Amino acid sequence: MPRPNWLSNPWAQNPWFETVAVAQRRAKKRLPSSVYGALVAGSERGQTADDNTAAFRELGFAPHVVGTRPERAMDTTIMGQPISLPVVISPTGVQAVHPDGEVAVARAAAARGTVMSLSNFASKSIEEVVEANPNTFFQMYWTGDRDVVVQRMERARAAGAKGLIATLDWSFSIGRDWGSPEIPEKVDLKTAIRFAPQVLTRPRWMWEFGRAGLIPDLTAPNLAPPGGSAPTFFGAYYEWMTTPTPTWDDVEWMRKEWDGPFLLKGVCRVDDAKRAVDAGVTALSVSNHGGNNLDGTPAAIRMLKPIADAVGDQVEVVLDGGVRRGSDVVKAVALGARAVLIGRAYLWGLAANGQTGVENVLDILRGGIDSAMRGLGISSIDELSPEHLVIPDGFHRALGT
Ligand SMILES: Cc1cc2nc3c(=O)[nH]c(=O)nc-3n(C[C@H](O)[C@H](O)[C@H](O)COP(=O)(O)O)c2cc1C
Repeated sequence: MPRPNWLSNPWAQNPWFETVAVAQRRAKKRLPSSVYGALVAGSERGQTADDNTAAFRELGFAPHVVGTRPERAMDTTIMGQPISLPVVISPTGVQAVHPDGEVAVARAAAARGTVMSLSNFASKSIEEVVEANPNTFFQMYWTGDRDVVVQRMERARAAGAKGLIATLDWSFSIGRDWGSPEIPEKVDLKTAIRFAPQVLTRPRWMWEFGRAGLIPDLTAPNLAPPGGSAPTFFGAYYEWMTTPTPTWDDVEWMRKEWDGPFLLKGVCRVDDAKRAVDAGVTALSVSNHGGNNLDGTPAAIRMLKPIADAVGDQVEVVLDGGVRRGSDVVKAVALGARAVLIGRAYLWGLAANGQTGVENVLDILRGGIDSAMRGLGISSIDELSPEHLVIPDGFHRALGT
C-alpha cells in the first residue's frame, strides 16, 4: 500500500487542517519570514486588505430551523467550464513557495473539479500547468508592446488555455507600513548565505525543496521570448512598470485577439463594468487585487451587488478578495456573484501541505458552502439571493454611478 505523503516527512504533524486560519498559522510557522510576508502582501496601511475580510464579517445569515433539503447542488460554470463548486483558483505570482508550485495547485484544482488560473508571473510553464489541469485560464498583465502580448497569448492558446484573464488594476502602490519582504533577484550562493538566518529556522521548508532537488525559482517562464530564456521576476516587473497603461481600446483589442472566453479582473466601478460589457468581455471580476493595489478601495464584497445589478444579466460577474470560508462564498453568490476566485486561502494551503493542502482548502470551502445552504434551507446555489442575508445599512458601495 503506498504510504501517505505526510508519513515520509519527518516533521509531519497531522497534515489535515480544519479552517483556512489554521492553514495560515501553519504557513507562517513553516515559511521563512520574507516568503510568508510575500504571501500576506497588501499595500500601504492595509486598509483594503483588512476590509476585504472584515466586510464578510458584517454580513449575517437568516437561517431556517426546519426544512433542510437532502440534495444541495453547488456546481456551476465559469466562462463555459464546468466547476463542481463556485470557487476558482485566482492567479497569484508567488507559488515558488513550494517546489511543485502552480503544478500542485493545478492538480488540486483538477482533483476537486475546478478551474486553475495561471499568473503571468508564475514559476511554472503554461504547458506543464495545462497538462496538470486542462481547465486552465491564463492571466496576463498589460506588459510589453502589442506584438509581445500577442506572442504570449498565442503560446497560452497553443498550450490549451481555455480562457484569458486580463488583470489591469495595478498602480504600483506597493509600500507597506509593516514592511515589504526582500525578494532576491535569483537564488545563488551569495543569496543563500544572506537569507540563511531566516531559512535555517525553517527546516521543513528547506527539506521540501531539498527533497525535490530544487531551489526556489524566481523566473517567469511564460514571459520568455520564443527560443529565449525566461526573464527574472525583476526583469519582468521592470518591463511591466515601463509599459504605457492600457486604454479601453486596448482591452477591446486584447479581447478580439484572444477570440475566446475573456475575463477582465479588477473592476470596482459600475461605469467601468458597463464599459467592460461594451468591450465585449465574457466575464468580469469585482476585485481590488486582494488589497494589494490602491489602498483605500472598498472591500470587493461591498462593491459586488451594485455591479451585479447593473451588468449581471449581460456578462458573468465573479468576485475575488477576502474569501476564507464556505459561508463567504455563499454570501458572495447571494449578492450576485456566479463564483468566487480565491488567492491567499489556497496559498496558505499550498505552503502548509502542497497539493494536499490546496485540496484541503477546497474541501473546507465545499463543506462550508454545504452547511450554509443546509442552514438556509436551499437545494441549489441558484436559489441564493440577498433575502438570505442580514445586510447592515450602508453596506454596499456603488462606485461610478
Ligand atoms: C501574493 C499574491 C500574489 C498575487 N499575484 C497576482 C498575479 O500575479 N496576477 C493577478 O491577476 N492577481 C494576483 N494576485 C491577486 C489575486 O489573484 C486575487 O485577486 C487576490 O488574492 C484575492 O484576494 P484574497 O487573497 O483575499 O483571496 C495576487 C495576490 C497575492 C496575495
